Amino acid sequence: MNVPFIDLKRAHDPIRTELLEAFTRTLDHGEFCLGSEVSDFESGFASVQGISRVVGVGSGTEALHLIACSLDLGPGDEVIVPAFTFIASAWLAEYVGAKLVFADIDPLTYTIDPKSVEAVTTENTKTIVATHLFGLSADMDAIQRIADKCGAKVVEDAAQAHLARYRGEPVGEIGDAGAFSFYPTKNLGGLGEGGCVSSKDPGLLDSVAVLRAHGSKERYLNHFVGYNNRMEGLQAAALNVKLPFLKAKTARRQEIADSYLRGIQLENTTLPGEPEWGRSVFHMFTLQHPERDRLRSYLTEKGIGTDIVYPYPLHLQPCFADRGYGVGSFPESEKLAKHCLSLPIVPELTDAEIDYVIESVNSFS
Ligand SMILES: Cc1ncc(COP(=O)(O)O)c(C=O)c1O
Repeated sequence: MNVPFIDLKRAHDPIRTELLEAFTRTLDHGEFCLGSEVSDFESGFASVQGISRVVGVGSGTEALHLIACSLDLGPGDEVIVPAFTFIASAWLAEYVGAKLVFADIDPLTYTIDPKSVEAVTTENTKTIVATHLFGLSADMDAIQRIADKCGAKVVEDAAQAHLARYRGEPVGEIGDAGAFSFYPTKNLGGLGEGGCVSSKDPGLLDSVAVLRAHGSKERYLNHFVGYNNRMEGLQAAALNVKLPFLKAKTARRQEIADSYLRGIQLENTTLPGEPEWGRSVFHMFTLQHPERDRLRSYLTEKGIGTDIVYPYPLHLQPCFADRGYGVGSFPESEKLAKHCLSLPIVPELTDAEIDYVIESVNSFS
């Protein structure tokens, strides 16, 4: 049996007609950059996420950048980022010339460890980036307490966490601002790039809305140095077709995760932790095994697609080689990078495929 790690064709084939209709509609009205598809998507996604408003942009990375601009971050400011996350969490600091400061992750949740954050705060700490990694919210109360103590803002990198909750609260409006990604493989993915910014502060969202369109509030009158970070109409049209399925697809991811959590009994395996503050939406199902590479080869031979997300912690990335970190700086991040293996968890998997993944993992020796 062949079990794909991700198969976007399987996700899109059943809605091909609806997608083509949405493209035809967009061709007819011609609103390709922002416009009605984008504003419909902004209100639709905010409502499904359970938050007040979002501003659509061209990608999750652009969302993080425009948040950094709107928070007025710059040289001399320090931004704390988990050492184990996707690189874009760190771009938030880099793009505006702020100082990137790493903190380690918690070994149970793989999210930023508040104790490690506390240890690196200084009077210059201006922002803490909490990445809701693999779909699980970071420990937001603990992070907020630290941020309050040092007067810092909290940014939620929610790129992987559509519909995730922290103690019942939707992520995206818990901190000062949130960034979502609609990259095709995300829990809600478009047919190309896409992202949005969320915030409980309408002023911050207004600022992002201006910055995404060349810093202009009025046509051809530019109040700020801005960017071309508009969400595209065709992307929003595709996302509008996919949005109504997000709740059911998320529930299916959680159901598959339950099967894995119950069924995987391979010795020396660490399964994803489940903290008391909320359930993951399982963008990834990532286990740890001391013989990760051998386990991965074994599963490949059995026809099962897996991925290593992520093989390198950020403090050991070549682009940050001059930052004074080295092997041993963040042991939990380094351990996870060495041992992590992500299993297929896309909602389109069949029950037989899920059983086959479990049996195959358990038969590894
Ligand atoms: C945690 C995290 N942050 C930020 C991003 C950036 O999003 P995008 O690829 O839409 O720019 C991603 C996705 O790739 C991500 O996984």
